[in-house]
Amino acid sequence: MNDADIGLIGLGVMGANLALNIADQGYRVAVYNRTAEKTDNFMAQAGGLAERFIACRTLEDLVAAIKPPRPIIMMVQAGEAVDQQIALLKPLVQKADILIDAGNANFHDTMRRFAELDPTGISYLGMGVSGGAEGARHGPSIMVGGSRDCYRRVEPVLTAIAARHEGDACVDYLGSDGAGHFVKTIHNGIEYANMQMIAEIYGLMRTGHGLAPKRIGHVFDRWNDGPLKSYLIEITGKVLAADDPQTDQPMVDIILDRAGQKGTGRWTAIEAQALGVPATTIEEAVSARALSALKQQRLAAEEIYGPALVADFPDYGVDAAKTLENALLAATIIAYAQGFAVMATASAEYDWKLPYRDVARIWRAGCIIRSQFLEVIMQAYDKGAEPANLLVAGNVVETLETAIPALRRTVAAAAQSGLPVAALAAALGYFETYRNGRSTANLLQAQRDFFGEHGFERTDRPGAHHGPWGLAPG
Ligand code: 6PG
Repeated sequence: MNDADIGLIGLGVMGANLALNIADQGYRVAVYNRTAEKTDNFMAQAGGLAERFIACRTLEDLVAAIKPPRPIIMMVQAGEAVDQQIALLKPLVQKADILIDAGNANFHDTMRRFAELDPTGISYLGMGVSGGAEGARHGPSIMVGGSRDCYRRVEPVLTAIAARHEGDACVDYLGSDGAGHFVKTIHNGIEYANMQMIAEIYGLMRTGHGLAPKRIGHVFDRWNDGPLKSYLIEITGKVLAADDPQTDQPMVDIILDRAGQKGTGRWTAIEAQALGVPATTIEEAVSARALSALKQQRLAAEEIYGPALVADFPDYGVDAAKTLENALLAATIIAYAQGFAVMATASAEYDWKLPYRDVARIWRAGCIIRSQFLEVIMQAYDKGAEPANLLVAGNVVETLETAIPALRRTVAAAAQSGLPVAALAAALGYFETYRNGRSTANLLQAQRDFFGEHGFERTDRPGAHHGPWGLAPG
């Protein structure tokens, strides 16, 4: 009975779709779910692919069903469930078997699990999978961390199931232990920033320009033929075109303005802060979700301060959509730049040697942040180049120079009218600070020295110095 090529634990939507995708590629898959009913339902709906599955009732059965050395994909809820799953599997599997965590794990957990399993000889891969349910079924983007040898052993099946960009499979080995889950976390951080910035631009068109959802949707559809071309822009156009079947109202108008989050965006912001790398667009996007949850408080505050001064929002005439398009383009580039900057510092900190060009390459299809701009990012990292920041990469500068004035106009207009654009403003603030050769940190240093005698460097001679604060009046 042990003729399955691979095992898969966890038949929720993502796990079930991944199993079907693997079977589609001709592999035989042993499947297991903690509640047997889910396994039965899965088998009942597997149609013509059913014969490629071995439905297992116990983990013992699952392990026995797979040809050694056994690759076993775990698609269970991130967190404790993964530790429990590993504890249950540990006595059943053998050295050289490979446990693969395909959930949205915190990469620190993945590093810990990797270190715990290492002495046992059981191999462990942390595998970020992006693309939602559809991606899992027909081709996700797959980001793998662990040992390279171990990756080589599962590379054929991962290559077979991954999304393809012009024939190129969107899967790669990215580095040791937590590298794959870390890159997936950064992916989600950028996803949060992009989504928030798109939502803010929608807000300007909705509240500032007074446009109906369908008209805004057409604008996004148009943008999807230009430099903003991306999955998120595409689905935004589709979302805005949809009507609620129950009320015939635009669907987006019926949806409560309170966003959920599972945590990956927050992890990115926390890690960025821990590494001392500004990822302000991502931080604002996480904060925006938290603020969105305070619906009652926001309503009460609006009662006190009144609504936005919409009449003041400038109408740029025929230029309106172009201005917003360029503003969003600039902000999107800045969000990518921040994500890649966090990756660069983490790569050095955790000794991953992340292949940035390949990260951009495998994000071009299957994942949520797939976009045309990733081609530009790939070129920026071509032939081992490592720009200090994407903002100063030779092939990015011209686009940003063209787009930044629009971001300035947009943020200024929103500020004048009291319309919230926290992520767009964060993008602009980062850009203006980054490109400013003379910051105002000289004053911070003076203040620190004044109250804490922390010392400062001088511009005209080396060493640590103190100011003449004792002489200051008062
Ligand atoms: C993906 C998505 C996916 C999921 C996240 C985000 O890459 O396929 O990012 O992982 O949608 O869980 O969810 P939250 O918005 O709930 O944090």
